[in-house]
Amino acid sequence: MPLFERAADWPRRPAALPAVPPPRGALLGDPAEFRIEAARNPHMIRAGGGLKEVDADRARKQWEALRSALAALGLETPVLDPVPGLVDLCFPANPSLVLRRPGAGASVWLGRMAFPCREGEVALHRSFFEARGFRPRELPAEIRPFEGAGDGVQHPGRFLLHAGVGGRSTRSAWEALAREEPGLDILLYRLQDPRFYHLDTALSPLTEETALFVPSAFDAEGRGLLQAAFPRLLEVEEAEALAFAANAWCPDGRRVLIEESCHDTRRRLEREGFEAVPLPTSEYRKSGGSVFCLKQALP
Ligand code: ARG
Repeated sequence: MPLFERAADWPRRPAALPAVPPPRGALLGDPAEFRIEAARNPHMIRAGGGLKEVDADRARKQWEALRSALAALGLETPVLDPVPGLVDLCFPANPSLVLRRPGAGASVWLGRMAFPCREGEVALHRSFFEARGFRPRELPAEIRPFEGAGDGVQHPGRFLLHAGVGGRSTRSAWEALAREEPGLDILLYRLQDPRFYHLDTALSPLTEETALFVPSAFDAEGRGLLQAAFPRLLEVEEAEALAFAANAWCPDGRRVLIEESCHDTRRRLEREGFEAVPLPTSEYRKSGGSVFCLKQALP
């Protein structure tokens, strides 16, 4: 089974794996219903206790700015319409996993949400992808949770998946995916810290060689795997990690969409030859997400 949890057991390196084309679009979710009505992760709770509150107007403006930035990179940006009560629909990274395949095309795997209140989003993803001619697939019925691209982060340019195991995706989900996708190498990371509850809060691959990561979110084996997969690993310090610096997205290998307050990480990116595209995501960070989770990459 092509599932690996230690660098010593992984016989390949990314450059040896089949190439996949870069994403051409980003699916977004309209934030009209976005709010915080229960704490699903530690970011949603105020320092003194109680739930954080979202400023709806600011959230709308921030989302529009993200959409414009994505469009300016030449990406198409289809949008899921709001549905009453689906407050987290603006985080399309979680209800599905879109795996870009060698050559062209993609397989679409539907998520199994950790919280029942998000389950309704899965049907919206199913309809969206069916309307585009995909045949969305499901993991065996007993497998839960499995939060899609929140925990399944594809290596840039390669048929290789970085997969997080924690409160939002079980190990059995990745074992099932490995059986269904025999040509795919899956690297498994055990998430160590409830504040980095999805892999995409702690790892942001930028190019085939380079990734931003939060060291404390991983155990020693996980850090070893990251070293094997990315010759150029850029550490994010805790303060900026908590502001979601490692939830950045680099769709073209050069420009990195990143939360604007992460100044150190932005400078680091520029020094490394990237162009940082700062975006305000304060309202979404209150819910535990930033740039990466506000979209689902499309083939
Ligand atoms: N409030 C959402 C939740 O807890 C945030 C999801 C953020 N998504 C992500 N991929 N990190 O489910």
